[in-house]
Amino acid sequence: MQIFKKKKALINCLSILKQENKQVGFVPTMGALHKGHLSLLEESAKNNSISVVTIFVNPTQFNKPEDLEKYPKTLENDLALLKNAKCDIVFIPSVEEIYADSVLSKSYTFDGIEHQMEGKFRDGHFDGVATIVQAFFEIIKPNRAYFGEKDYQQLQVVKKLAEKENLSVAVIGCPIFRENDGLAMSSRNTRLSKDQRKASPLIYQILKKASTLINTKEIADIYSIVKDEFKKNNLLELEYFTIADEKNLQEVSTIQIGKKYRAFIAVNAGSVRLIDNIFLPVKK
Ligand code: PAJ
Repeated sequence: MQIFKKKKALINCLSILKQENKQVGFVPTMGALHKGHLSLLEESAKNNSISVVTIFVNPTQFNKPEDLEKYPKTLENDLALLKNAKCDIVFIPSVEEIYADSVLSKSYTFDGIEHQMEGKFRDGHFDGVATIVQAFFEIIKPNRAYFGEKDYQQLQVVKKLAEKENLSVAVIGCPIFRENDGLAMSSRNTRLSKDQRKASPLIYQILKKASTLINTKEIADIYSIVKDEFKKNNLLELEYFTIADEKNLQEVSTIQIGKKYRAFIAVNAGSVRLIDNIFLPVKK
């Protein structure tokens, strides 16, 4: 496994590999790696001859300074995990290496996808994500890039980014990896207190409940049931629960046969923000 901190050295190395016609898979991360991240790497290794992982806590996608400051950093452990997985190249640039002296996002439009859910609650977040993902795509020029459905809206934004900017990369979504009790794996989970961690499986339980109720109840009723469940819990504060069209992520109030839907949720456990989502299997 080769480790690079400078983009010039990485670009040189990759250009040699590309001359040998090697297919390059790319897994962007912000580190504090867990099995969810490693499942993306597995998928990349299956379908490419070289897998590149980036570890970069991207300042421009954080809308709250405290969240950026407290983002867990476990570089040594991350490198050990990657060494034991099928990672060929790790890129760990500094903020200056990526942004020089202007730590700013570009402005994007993604046909409205960026204004839903996370876009409403995290101002500028997707501009920051798209800026860094595009920067990495330009440096690495991967054949395929792997993103988790855990951040489903991010996955759709990156797909739109590739489409709009005419980038020759296939953006591939991978399923959500969960703890045994259902909590979606996340780097932020390590910041939960014991009690918050104990309470957190409610998030996935609610999503599963919504996925069964979708065939028997009106959407408005499902929203009230979810809100009531969270009112009863004083450790988890519901930020949003939204049922949306899987494609354009627009919130819906009724179900139309033939379309696909997902339920999306964001919950605050103290200062830790957790998100999750689930496919809703509407019966014909
Ligand atoms: P990060 O939160 O580190 O996640 C990196 C990738 O791992 C994302 O594609 C995310 O969706 C995926 N992932 C996280 N938890 C997962 C889980 N439980 N199951 C499956 N996949 C999971 O997302 C980011 O970083 C950043 O926004 C980034 C894309 C790196 C840009 O800075």
